[in-house]
Formats: sequence, structure tokens, C-alpha cells
Amino acid sequence: MKLIKQLKLSAAALALSATAAAAADVEVLHWWTSGGEAAALNVLKNDLEGQGIGWMDMPVAGGGGEAAMTVLRARVTSGNAPTAVQMLGFDITDWAKEGALANLNDAAAANGWDAVVPEALQKFSKYEGNWVAAPVNVHSVNWVWANKKVFDDNNIAVPTTWEEFEAAMATLKAAGVTPIAQGGQPWQEATLFDSVVMATGGPDFYQKALIDLDPEALGSDTMKQAFDRLGEIRANVDDNFSGRDWNLATAMVINGEAAMQIMGDWAKGEFVAAGKVPDEDFLCFRFPGTQDQVMFNADQFAMFDQGGVVSPEQAALATAIMSPTFQSAFNVVKGSVPARTDVPDTDFDACGKKGIADLAASSSSGNLFGSLAQGYGAPASIKNAYYDVVTAFFNGSFDSQTATEELVTAIEIAQ
Ligand code: GAL
Repeated sequence: MKLIKQLKLSAAALALSATAAAAADVEVLHWWTSGGEAAALNVLKNDLEGQGIGWMDMPVAGGGGEAAMTVLRARVTSGNAPTAVQMLGFDITDWAKEGALANLNDAAAANGWDAVVPEALQKFSKYEGNWVAAPVNVHSVNWVWANKKVFDDNNIAVPTTWEEFEAAMATLKAAGVTPIAQGGQPWQEATLFDSVVMATGGPDFYQKALIDLDPEALGSDTMKQAFDRLGEIRANVDDNFSGRDWNLATAMVINGEAAMQIMGDWAKGEFVAAGKVPDEDFLCFRFPGTQDQVMFNADQFAMFDQGGVVSPEQAALATAIMSPTFQSAFNVVKGSVPARTDVPDTDFDACGKKGIADLAASSSSGNLFGSLAQGYGAPASIKNAYYDVVTAFFNGSFDSQTATEELVTAIEIAQ
């Protein structure tokens, strides 16, 4: 009898310790499920486990985070918010407006975040002057990733203008090489269009049309020209693009099945994970016509309020995310650049060094713009209206003039 009692006691003790351990864990909802993303996430998990904080993983696959945000809404509605959530731009602001996010001012003050996080990010990391999210990186969307052997075999130099880009696509097509690897999902097509609009109309036009949402700019001949160019790119993707995940398009460039992918620098994380080296295996260059701009989206971790207090684990997670050494180690793997401006580029490869230099240059020259497709241009309702029109055009529902008119209407309705 005594033995059974002892067994029951030890079982209870085990359960208690397990619960205690669970209490010290952080449950993190995110959408980092590709090879490169998972490798970067492991840097964060290991960093926390080194501090005795366990990681309860809550991955929600689906590039760009749409599915993750849907799951988040369901979790919060059911009163079961995760400890921390990967979020972008205006989604952070929206949740902060709901009063759902923990106040991270203590961690921010203790670690000097105000002095090292660019103003463009603080606009979203803070709400009404309080820190509500910790930015782990700065990604940018206006990149082209090219297979160097395919370029060399076809005598293609890095294109710096739209005309050179068109010529490169024509040369590749004539050689029987798929010029553009594309994932056929609305968020990817819209992310591509961000760069095309910037290249076609320039920074003032991008600001007026896609940030200020000026109806005249949205409905202009310049916007029609941008759609025409998007149509030219559409004519240079393979027939099986529909529904393709972004990282599978990246793999096509890595393997030489296609020449280029126009995608955010999370694509570089796939090259890194595949052991590829810049200027040997692949080339990274700004989408032609956007060399002076950085069109950013930053991955930020918001801590969900757990009853009015910031738990020690939430504070530790936010502090870990913002540590300079972590920001270097994580971003080297992720393909992005540090959110902090005081992290040296020592450990970054040539593309990473360029990304860090571009961010600093664009910040000081007024050429740093939020990506509309990636949640840093306008609230979700506008972003989703933009997705709807761009993907309909990309899939042949209407011509460029109709797309331009549809864009004006869709964004007007979404406001
Ligand atoms: C972006 C995110 C990146 C990467 C990408 C593809 O929204 O900022 O970190 O996850 O989606 O899923």
C-alpha cells in the first residue's frame, strides 16, 4: 500500500514540476516553417533555452503570415492567447489598439532600445509611446536573387534598368531558361508588385499611391504602366507557378531551374541554408529602378497581455530578441539585417553587408519605405484589397487599365 502511495506522490510531484516548467516556457506563434526560417528560429530557441526558458512552438505555415494572423484571432477570441506572436507593422498597431499587448517599457529602458531602433520601426514597435513589440530584424522586398551560373552561361550582366531587365528576360526565354521563378499566391504577387510600382513611378509616386492612398495616383497612367510591367513579368514565369510556396520558387533558382526570383531577403535564408555563397553561387541585387530605396518589413514579436503583468519569460524573450549578439547571429541565418543600428556587419556575407549598408543609406536619405504587401504600408483591410486586385490581374482576370480602375475602387471601399 505504501509503495502505491509513494508512486502517487511522485507522480503528483512530476506533474507539478512539469507544470512549473510549462509556466517557465514561452508559447510562440509564428510562420517560420521553411528551411531557412527554421534555422533562424533555432538560434532564438537555443538562446532562450540557454537561459532556462523552454519554447512551446506554435508554427502556422503560410508565407507572409496571413494564416498565422487568422489562428491568432481565433486563439485570442477563445481567451487563449499565446505568450508571444510574430507580427508585422499595422497588425501590431491593431492589436495594441485592442489593449491586447503587454507593455515592454521596462525591458526597453533597461536595454536602451529607443537609441538604437530606427524611427521607421519604432512607429510600429510602439503604441501611444509605449513599447509593445520587439523588432528582431529588417527584411526588405525589393531584391532580385539570381543563379550566377545561369547568368554567366547566358552572358547576362546584373540589370540596373527596367529595359536591361526586360532584355535579360528575353535572352533567358530564348535560351529556353525560365526567367522568373514565382510563387502564385496573392501575398507573393503583391510583394512583387511593390517593387514594380516603386521602379515604375519612383519613391514619390510609391508614397503617394501605396502609402497615402491618393486616388489620382492609384488610378494614374503610371499605375497602369506598373501593371503592364507586372504583366511582362507574368509572361516570364513557368506554367506551374499557381499556388507555389515562396521557398519552392527560391529552390528553383538555387537549383538552376530558373534564373531569378523577385522576393524579400528571406529568400537569402534559403540560399544560406543550402550552403550557397553570394557572388559564387548566386547574385543579390536591388530590383532595377529601386537601387536607392529600401522597402522594408520587420518581423516583430509582440507579447500578449497575460493578466496585466509582463511575465519574466516575456521580458526575457523580448530582451533576448533585442540583444546585439543575438541580432547578429539570427539575421546572418535569416537573410535579413538587424533591427538595431549598432550591430556590426562583421559576420554577414556580401549580401548581408549590402543590406545593412542599404538600410543605413536609405534611412538617412529618406528612401526607407514600408512595404504595403508586407504590412508596413497601410492597415490589413487596405493590404488585402491590394492583394485581391493584384492577384486577379496576375491571373488574367482583367487588363492593366481595368486593374488600375479596380485598384482605386477596392482601396476606396477598404478605407
Ligand atoms: C514575411 C516575414 C518573413 C518571412 C516571409 C515568408 O512576412 O517577414 O520573415 O517569413 O514572410 O514567409
